[in-house]
Amino acid sequence: MKKIKIGVIGLGYVGLPLAICLSKKFKVKGFDINKKRIDNLCNGYDQTLEFTRKEIAKIKNISFTNNIKLLDDCNFFIIAVPTPIHKNKNPDLRNLKYATQSVGKILKPDSIVVFESTVYPGVTENICVPILEKFSKLKYKKDFHCGYSPERINPGDKKRKIQNIIKVVSGSSPNILKTINHVYKKTIKAGTFVASSIKVAEAAKVIENSQRDINIAFINELSKIFDKLEINTYDVLKAANTKWNFLDFKPGLVGGHCIGVDPYYLASIAKKKKYNPKIILSGRRLNNEMPNFVINKLDKYFKNKTSKSLKSLLILGLTFKENCNDYRNSLIFDIIKIINRKKIKYEIFDPFLMDQIDQLKKKGLTIKNKLPKKKFDSVLVAVGHDYFKKMGLKKITKFSKYKIVFDLKNIFDYKNTITL
Ligand SMILES: NC(=O)c1ccc[n+]([C@@H]2O[C@H](COP(=O)([O-])OP(=O)(O)OC[C@H]3O[C@@H](n4cnc5c(N)ncnc54)[C@H](O)[C@@H]3O)[C@@H](O)[C@H]2O)c1
Repeated sequence: MKKIKIGVIGLGYVGLPLAICLSKKFKVKGFDINKKRIDNLCNGYDQTLEFTRKEIAKIKNISFTNNIKLLDDCNFFIIAVPTPIHKNKNPDLRNLKYATQSVGKILKPDSIVVFESTVYPGVTENICVPILEKFSKLKYKKDFHCGYSPERINPGDKKRKIQNIIKVVSGSSPNILKTINHVYKKTIKAGTFVASSIKVAEAAKVIENSQRDINIAFINELSKIFDKLEINTYDVLKAANTKWNFLDFKPGLVGGHCIGVDPYYLASIAKKKKYNPKIILSGRRLNNEMPNFVINKLDKYFKNKTSKSLKSLLILGLTFKENCNDYRNSLIFDIIKIINRKKIKYEIFDPFLMDQIDQLKKKGLTIKNKLPKKKFDSVLVAVGHDYFKKMGLKKITKFSKYKIVFDLKNIFDYKNTITL
């Protein structure tokens, strides 16, 4: 292959770190359809908060654009656009198809297109390749080639960064795989794992997240059972964890756009192939029931302790996970719906969402830009941000008139809080 020039399509939580990582060894052009995202990046601001202005200023060998035509000199494309689900939980491949179409229009002979978006096995070759062929008028495996390399990054995680997570790679032929492997190996310090086919690499990614979802669902189920038995889940987990092969999962809310979404991708292809998945979807259902369980548990505890009904709640945290500013599919929204129905008054504070207050307001949700001065019946520490850990339980408890704190992520000593 001639000198490799990389075009990264989609500069979100996955695409931006990837583009920056690759730019250390290759010339990279980053494309995103969101003009604001491009303007922000050109002005040195990363709204995902994965990079500071200082870090963005240091980047060389990379340009950002919302004009796909400017990528027409690239010969190695990486597509990292969102793959959400529709309301009916079926895979929504519209972003992926549209991004593939954009690349198809500028694709030149001898180019390679690698997909990083999470999909179900078969999407790359059965759905994306025909789009590339149609818009480029080129022939797959003859004029252009493909690969799939799933992403495993963990936004907000300062230790596990893209360069120190092993990257699974796959390609449409042994020769092409060599080039793809070379590109990733050169930039990912942890190295690569070569999968035996594109489908295998697609399947590996989607089962990683499905496995996690199912394991959490099991622990969530235990939490419901132990609540009835009046034993503390964490006491049980602590004891069970002393066995060498007990898996260390915690109960909690499964939100976001990976773990709570990817199992539906796996289930959809299983159903298409006339297999009705049993464990995968029941895990999903159980995890989606958890907001109800949290509020009922808090309600019951509150009544027992105070002989009153819960009337007001301070919610600390709205994002779908700790130390990141991504609130997509956060189950805290479901908690809010439930407490609205129960007419419980609430305030929300999330230090990671200070610059998204207006955006959330447009969606009909008011969140505060500072901690409140008044007291509430109870406090729900909904997200395990380091910010709340640093505040400490003592300070947080002061917001509750009755000293009742529900610590959903068990970031404090569970002897002094309510947990799952
Ligand atoms: N965020 C994670 O933790 C994570 C981890 C592993 C894998 N993934 C997977 O990686 C993929 C990307 O996820 P993400 O979190 O980076 O999404 P994201 O929403 O953060 O970013 C995607 C970017 O793609 C852009 N985009 C959308 N359609 C486009 C198009 N047609 N052309 C160009 N740009 C387009 C959006 O404007 C956005 O900036 C998904 O399939 C996701 O499941 C995500």
